[in-house]
Amino acid sequence: MNQNQIHSQNWSQESYIKAYQFAAIAHQDQTIPGSELPYIIHLSFVSMELIAALSLEKVTDGNLAIQCAVLHDTIEDTDTNFEKIKAEFGEAVAKGVLALTKDNSLAKHLQMADSLRRIKQQPPEIWMVKLADRISNLQAPPHYWSQEKIIKYREEAIEIYEALKDASPFLAARLASKIENYKAYIQSDDI
Ligand code: NI
Repeated sequence: MNQNQIHSQNWSQESYIKAYQFAAIAHQDQTIPGSELPYIIHLSFVSMELIAALSLEKVTDGNLAIQCAVLHDTIEDTDTNFEKIKAEFGEAVAKGVLALTKDNSLAKHLQMADSLRRIKQQPPEIWMVKLADRISNLQAPPHYWSQEKIIKYREEAIEIYEALKDASPFLAARLASKIENYKAYIQSDDI
């Protein structure tokens, strides 16, 4: 056995299942933008990145990481609110999900910096969810995105990487390689 990999799992399948069932109901009828696929696929990808990271890197609270990964878009994109998540999953998870939620009362160009500032006030588990979210979102962009939007999205990913990379060398390296590969979607005279 690799001596770097001997640490016990500190999250439970039951915690994952509970959050996943909650998210599946909350996001029911939503699809991945630009596709017919159910939205929860995105949540599967994000939590899969977290699970891969947790098998290599020790965090204080694995369940916090896993549940926030699964629930991270519920406040932003569904009828669910902070109080409901707090009642079901506890205050730490609810605060984590809230930090991962954009503040739509701010002008659009201020939202990312604000969100990163709030995430950085949370434990590293929450930073990891944001890294995993952007890793998962740096797949082929929806066909209707403009070059300008694609370039902006890549620049935002670099901002996320710079702000949060210290939380997880594993996820930071994954994100760095996704950012590099995302250049393929940008016409070469634009970068
Ligand atoms: Ni997301």
